[in-house]
Amino acid sequence: MKGLVVGAAGMIGRKLVERLARDGSLRDEPIEALHAVDIVAPSPGKTTFPIVCEAFDLAAPYVAPKLVAGRPDVVFLLASIVSGEAEADFDKGYAINLDGSRALLEAIRREYILSGGVYKPRLVFTSSIAVFGAPFPEAIGDEFFLTPLTSYGTQKAIVELLLADYSRRGFLDGVGIRLPTITVRPGAPNKAASGFFSGILREPLAGKEARLPVADSVCHWHASPRSAVGFLLHAATMDTRALGARRSLTMPGVAATVAEQIEALRQRAGERAVKLIRREPDTIVERIVAGWPSRFDASRAESLGFSAERTFAEILDAYIEDEHVHIDA
Ligand SMILES: NC(=O)c1ccc[n+]([C@@H]2O[C@H](COP(=O)([O-])OP(=O)(O)OC[C@H]3O[C@@H](n4cnc5c(N)ncnc54)[C@H](O)[C@@H]3O)[C@@H](O)[C@H]2O)c1
Repeated sequence: MKGLVVGAAGMIGRKLVERLARDGSLRDEPIEALHAVDIVAPSPGKTTFPIVCEAFDLAAPYVAPKLVAGRPDVVFLLASIVSGEAEADFDKGYAINLDGSRALLEAIRREYILSGGVYKPRLVFTSSIAVFGAPFPEAIGDEFFLTPLTSYGTQKAIVELLLADYSRRGFLDGVGIRLPTITVRPGAPNKAASGFFSGILREPLAGKEARLPVADSVCHWHASPRSAVGFLLHAATMDTRALGARRSLTMPGVAATVAEQIEALRQRAGERAVKLIRREPDTIVERIVAGWPSRFDASRAESLGFSAERTFAEILDAYIEDEHVHIDA
């Protein structure tokens, strides 16, 4: 079993590599070697198997063929720039999120041809609920049509189509997982418009102030980083015959209002933590968030074995445990 993780220095990529290192196996087979790649060299901890960490720009034309030359059995494609950046820099968004992904698919197809049709890796692609656009039904199912309203969502939707076509043609065995917003995002605050969903928990838990730019009634679709890694591993191991031609699916999550998020914080860390949330309405963020979907029907993914937390409190507990957050009594 040889694996390739592209985007291995990112928030989810790092956690995926850590988990693979801990498990030492994938698809019930020991991991023989792992190739961890990102635009900045990933630096994972100890592994029981050889791991090669390299810095490569997926958008550079010579990179994708190099990455699949060793014919990895499972490829995780996570490399991407975020929605805000893809909106601000049109060229960069298409170069990385679309052309970089396409180059990887093409490089796999080339190896498929060179191998006489024998090489056919599992490719797990991290898509997003940004492939959908308003107006939305009450709960968005997998049958809802793709009408992205951002360049990022458009790039993800195009790669979903490519994944389906390359799978249909037999060049690879693809699974696209549309991730909910992954909360609580550890580390420093990022510039994503959705950043406050994590910030209002992460910062108060660290004794710091956090800004809340929207109303408490705003509802959003969340899952923990732990669940995101679980989705990736399940997508790498599942029987894809059950997917048919529909290779991408919306992952399960928790629809929670900001008020419910704050209540979970109150339950775990008390009023003192909640008081660190500063309400600072921001009309730009409010407008962006109003266009986002908030609730999904992920029954297709659930019936295929994907699972996530059931309540927002469980999401918060996963963060407290996984990041070893110390809460003063
Ligand atoms: N975190 C979320 O809430 C969320 C939600 C939906 C979808 N996703 C998707 O999941 C994936 C991982 O998300 P994340 O939160 O870990 O993001 P992240 O930004 O932390 O990680 C993405 C990684 O991709 C790398 N990358 C960017 N351009 C690259 C290039 N040209 N070549 C090589 N590497 C490059 C970045 O350096 C970064 O380490 C992404 O594809 C993202 O679009 C994430």
